[in-house]
Amino acid sequence: MRVYLDNAATTPLAKEVAEAMIPVLQNEFGNPSSTHFYGRQTKALIETSRRSIAKQLNCSPGELIFTSGGTEADNIALNTGVFQLGVKRIISTTIEHHAVCHTIEHLAEREGIEAVWLSVDSKGNINLNELETYLKDEKPTLVSLMHANNEIGTLTPIEKVSEICKKYNAYFHTDTVQTMGHYAFDLDKLGIDFVTCAAHKFHGPKGIGFLYANKRIKTDILIHGGAQERGLRGGTENVYGIVGLAKAIELAYSHLEEHQAHVQGLKTYMIERLKETLSDVTFHGETDPAKSLYTVLNVCLPATEKSGMLLFTLDLKGVACSGGSACSSGATKGSHVLEGIQADNSRPNARFSFSRYTTKEEIDFAIEQLEAIYDKVLA
Ligand SMILES: Cc1ncc(COP(=O)(O)O)c(C=O)c1O
Repeated sequence: MRVYLDNAATTPLAKEVAEAMIPVLQNEFGNPSSTHFYGRQTKALIETSRRSIAKQLNCSPGELIFTSGGTEADNIALNTGVFQLGVKRIISTTIEHHAVCHTIEHLAEREGIEAVWLSVDSKGNINLNELETYLKDEKPTLVSLMHANNEIGTLTPIEKVSEICKKYNAYFHTDTVQTMGHYAFDLDKLGIDFVTCAAHKFHGPKGIGFLYANKRIKTDILIHGGAQERGLRGGTENVYGIVGLAKAIELAYSHLEEHQAHVQGLKTYMIERLKETLSDVTFHGETDPAKSLYTVLNVCLPATEKSGMLLFTLDLKGVACSGGSACSSGATKGSHVLEGIQADNSRPNARFSFSRYTTKEEIDFAIEQLEAIYDKVLA
């Protein structure tokens, strides 16, 4: 048996998404910028998809700019803040995804932007009072805070952050790569300036996502080239990816509450089973469902002589999970998120992440393998 418990890294493509994409791959080859029949056909697919996504998220189709995924959308949002909106300071945390942290570091180094890293507590929560204290001077600022942390699952109260930012005329960008398709969004009501999305985290294809840029923001050219995406992002569009993204969003929201209850149930079950099975187990980040992303469980396991081999051993036994973020796998450095929350680095950690396709039997299998590893190690 082999189980996939690494859905925060990426999710399997939904069958219905593949079925929506295949006819486009096979038949719809026209360049959407061409004015003839073939081009008009693919252009129509893009605009129908854009309208469908906008309807699901309650925003205007014109507020969505398709990108190659989360990383590009994060980069564009931060660069737009600095190069087009005149931001002089970016406020964020060190536990953001590297697509945000590294871009801010670059903008600080090359453009002299002031980078402010808010403190986070041991569960990865920010302090809203600290944010407000910084914003009081009304220096032109962009606040960039992720909706849910991809490694530990702690949620940021983005409605409250949005209110604070509005009060002090600061721009607000949120990376919702882990939450889009998993929670309902009313983008019009939220009034956030920039929102990042990647399709492959909710059973859509890889290499496609979008940046939502609120219509209040006057964005100029983001990627120079052709006139695609209303002249903001040049480059021939990923038509089948866009069609797949729209289908993935539609599917995610068609039975959202059912999916949420199923996955939260699995997470709660795994927490209980782990506590019964291993004496000394704790969790990184929040686990309270109100404060924690229901698809992610970051487990801090007992330290043993063979702790360093834990993920490798789990993989050999058929359990795919991760330690830290898979987006930087290959890097030998430890997790910057666990470092940011000052987690005990003498103990191994494993991030188990679930999807609507995960089953209770798969959780049982993972627990059995952990039990076997620890029995063996401790014997
Ligand atoms: C929170 C977060 N932001 C951004 C990204 C990058 O997204 P993409 O892989 O689509 O570039 C990831 C990927 O893991 C993520 O988890």
